Amino acid sequence: MDKLVIKGKTPLKGEVKISGAKNAAVAILPAALLIDGICTIDNLPNISDVKLLCEIIEELGAKITWTSNNSITIDSRNLCCTNAPLELTRKFRASYYLIGALLGRCHHVQVGMPGGCKLGARPIDQHIKGFEALGATVDVGQGKITANTDKLVGTSIYMDMVSVGATINIMLASVLAEGTTIIDNAAKEPHIVDVANFLNTMGADVRGAGTDVIKINGVSKLSGNISYSVVPDQIEAGTFMLAAVASRGDLIIKNCITKHLECISAKIIEMGAHAEEIDGDAIHVWCDSKTSKANIKTSPYPGFPTDLQSQMGVVLSISDGTSIINESIWESRFQYTDELNKMGAKITAQGKTAIFEGVDNLYGAPVYATDLRAGAALIIAGVCAEGTTEIYNLEHIDRGYENIEEKFKNIGANIERVSE
Ligand code: EPZ
Repeated sequence: MDKLVIKGKTPLKGEVKISGAKNAAVAILPAALLIDGICTIDNLPNISDVKLLCEIIEELGAKITWTSNNSITIDSRNLCCTNAPLELTRKFRASYYLIGALLGRCHHVQVGMPGGCKLGARPIDQHIKGFEALGATVDVGQGKITANTDKLVGTSIYMDMVSVGATINIMLASVLAEGTTIIDNAAKEPHIVDVANFLNTMGADVRGAGTDVIKINGVSKLSGNISYSVVPDQIEAGTFMLAAVASRGDLIIKNCITKHLECISAKIIEMGAHAEEIDGDAIHVWCDSKTSKANIKTSPYPGFPTDLQSQMGVVLSISDGTSIINESIWESRFQYTDELNKMGAKITAQGKTAIFEGVDNLYGAPVYATDLRAGAALIIAGVCAEGTTEIYNLEHIDRGYENIEEKFKNIGANIERVSE
């Protein structure tokens, strides 16, 4: 079992280049199965969720060729199986995108119940609602989901709550359906727009992605021989913005879309840090004093992202005064506060609310990543803490961050990955 050993405390300084977005890549790869042809995908983050999806896609009969660490070609002309290996699909959340893609192309699919970060119940009723509205029969049982249909017919679907996964899954299932599908109360995250752009690159007709009403006019066939580059990762960029603020450092964060980061910039400026856009694809973030307290309420895009909640928790732990976080998306996303309290933070978490009493310092300690973003938060905490921090359960972090310790080392962190 590996661990990260970090010796703090260090202000992070220098430049960091952001990778392709995990939550776009894990939807675009299944979406490529909709094409009876070949496509090239660039700027893929080299993370375990992407590698696992590629393994599943090859088991289904498609051919994948890695042309670089971050680029592949997928040839899905010989797609021959629609039953994804249950022992693989249960390892992460995004396996459920295989349902929308294979239902859309083959009218049949069976996948294991998705896994992913333990953030609460994580039901999939809105996905099922969409598939059934399009005409599919969906059975859930014995740890797997099976969906069948003779044909898919476009219709109007009102989402009972804003759901990133369900919005994307319904898009995937409807691009080859007969007629028009309207998704009302759709999610608007940057990765939704990226998946829609990918689908349109292959000849789909998806309009309105990025707004709360998405219209999909079904087409009879999608064309291959296309190339696509995954959007930069909003959450990774936000992670490094908050690392710069927490460590009282000075970072240039490159290959990002600053429009996607407006909420984070606004919040850190409110707290006394600085953020300045550079040419639309980089942002300069620096902080030279203790930040003031803040109240955070996570919400769907363009609000403050839940996937940056734990990283912001580190900033609040060492800010002036008492701060509050309301986690409105997930029932259980404060497990990381127990780990920060081991490092000297003073956090009280109850249900969907956590109260942070700012302290002067954090101190190194052995801590455990409880989910992907909590793991990133612990790295930031280790950089800001006096002494040595050891972080375990790195498999969570490796699911979503490419070369994380290299990136932190290149901006001044004293960080090593050590095999136990
Ligand atoms: C995606 O999860 C992301 N994962 C999550 O990021 C992210 O936290 C979340 O969106 C919100 O932005 C991927 O994209 C792979 P939802 P998803 O459907 O699609 C409820 C990370 O760290 N809901 O938008 O599973 C649900 O319980 C990960 O990168 C239903 O009730 O999230 C939650 O309360 C962690 N029924 C809310 O909606 C459904 O059918 C939002 O969930 C679907 C969702």
